[in-house]
Amino acid sequence: MSDVTVIKPKNIFTQNKHLLDWVNDMVSLCKPNSIHWCDGSEEENERISLLLVSNGTCNKLKRGKCYYCQTDPSDVARVEDRTFICTHTKEEAGPTNNWQEPREMKYVLNRLFNGSMIGRTMYVIPYSMGPIGSDISHIGIELSDSPYVVCNMKIMTRMGEQVMEALGDSPKFVKGVHSVGAPLQPGEKDVPWPSNKSKYIVHFPEERSIWSFGSGYGGNALLGKKCFALRIASYMAKNEGWLAEHMLIVGITNPEGEKKYFAAAFPSACGKTNLAMMTPALPGWKVETIGDDIAWMKFGADGRLYAINPEAGFFGVATGTSEKTNANAMKTIKENTIYTNVALTPDGDVWWEGKTENKPEKLINWLGNSWTPESKEAAAHPNSRFTVPAYQCPVIDPAWENPQGVPISAIIFGGRRASLIPLVYESFNWEHGVFTGAIVSSETTAAATGKVGEVRRDPFAMLPFCGYNMGDYFAHWLSMAQKTEAANLPRIFNVNWFRKDRKGNFIWPGFGNNIRVMKWIFNRLDNKADGIESPLGIMPAPDEIDFDGLNLSKEQIAEMLTVNKNDWLLELNEIGEYFGMFGNHLPEAIKNQIRQQANRILDMKN
Ligand code: OXD
Ligand code: MN
Repeated sequence: MSDVTVIKPKNIFTQNKHLLDWVNDMVSLCKPNSIHWCDGSEEENERISLLLVSNGTCNKLKRGKCYYCQTDPSDVARVEDRTFICTHTKEEAGPTNNWQEPREMKYVLNRLFNGSMIGRTMYVIPYSMGPIGSDISHIGIELSDSPYVVCNMKIMTRMGEQVMEALGDSPKFVKGVHSVGAPLQPGEKDVPWPSNKSKYIVHFPEERSIWSFGSGYGGNALLGKKCFALRIASYMAKNEGWLAEHMLIVGITNPEGEKKYFAAAFPSACGKTNLAMMTPALPGWKVETIGDDIAWMKFGADGRLYAINPEAGFFGVATGTSEKTNANAMKTIKENTIYTNVALTPDGDVWWEGKTENKPEKLINWLGNSWTPESKEAAAHPNSRFTVPAYQCPVIDPAWENPQGVPISAIIFGGRRASLIPLVYESFNWEHGVFTGAIVSSETTAAATGKVGEVRRDPFAMLPFCGYNMGDYFAHWLSMAQKTEAANLPRIFNVNWFRKDRKGNFIWPGFGNNIRVMKWIFNRLDNKADGIESPLGIMPAPDEIDFDGLNLSKEQIAEMLTVNKNDWLLELNEIGEYFGMFGNHLPEAIKNQIRQQANRILDMKN
């Protein structure tokens, strides 16, 4: 390591042997030209941002410290088929994860990472998932050869000096090593977005480590997010009795001033950010954001479930975000924002499909080509993103950094389904609620590579993120009921904003009008809505949802609240087949729930 330049600001000091030994090992393996210990300062951030501009990775926009970045066209989304959970046995990873024997995978990784950082700087990024000092939070260290990752991690996590201090000499940190997999030989010119065709996003849950190779984008590379806060953390949570979930957290206050917190799990790009920051369409209601993607939840001393947002920023889908769909997000991203794979306007700003009703006359699209409204190619990639600090959100909740977290009154599941799933229903009890989470399904979006628009089963919206056997994950959720009294458990609901009519048009206006559904949920919790029993759970009586001013016909309302017997029999058949793959890991309680749901459906009159 003697000929490696070390950049270590004075304020970054560590004698943590576990950390130093590991960094030394990784330096010997990856062979970077220099090591930069990140202190997380503004000054450091500016320097690295300027480096990104001079490397050609980013453009600086005219607007308040915003940057625009264009990835390689082959590196635009999470790569689920290249994501691995390497537990000791395949069974522990379960049938929904790619698995390889840990030693075999380490052999592959050692070959890939050998010299992978030649000609580059290895950044040592200390970060905390969750407020520093909260007993729900955890620390990670990411070693990365991507300055783009450093700038994104600075926004998405609490990063730098204070984290190193909080870690002290402790061995308790998640180790993440990330390389874009593009070593630079002496004299070789770099490309604006270095990456490698071969990609590996690998997790070793038992040793709490992550190895990510070949991609510089989003959840593949910002290791605090999906890799740590969901895959590794879900494994930790199972062993330690808490929950790490793909959920937004939102505080809602009714016109009488009563506030409740909700957590909601929807698959990627199904509107979590929009719900978390909603501008309510009903007067007197207030919505405040704690988080838009991930919730870590633990029982408090009072027996209730408390949630924190482990992240410090939003990595939101830009495409489709507008004043109409999410005015608060639009305000949030005015400054200090990194835009990736959006389009550039001639006056040096950004645009994406849906941002404004009228399309600009001329743009440079995300591929760097000139674009006009007649162009066949999209202006922005459908998975184009903004990275922005959470504190900039105008409706950020005052408790968003509370180390104790916020008490969760209800958990809401949902997906994108054009038919079948009603607008809203409540599960009968915790066990039925766990079943409701287990049968979440959704039409796929551009957040991951692969076909868009096909229905896939996505239990708890965790299919790509569960770090162990999904059958055991269901059992873990069921076991929460033993940890507290039933009255302390959050109630469980399911929603579907995406039901379409026969002509293929969305029936429900969604966005700010979703407050009407949240109002019903609120009223259920306050015993102010009796609902009516359906085979799926408790549904609203037609007059219990405030549809005033929506211009919906009686038929449309009925259609959104319909349970179709034949469709549900087919669905339950498919669910039964899907659950079959979990074998003896599928809890008896889930088998019972499917039988009971089937019986209720069979008892329906046609
Ligand atoms: C995300 C995702 O980026 O779920 O949040 O893909
Ligand atoms: Mn997500």
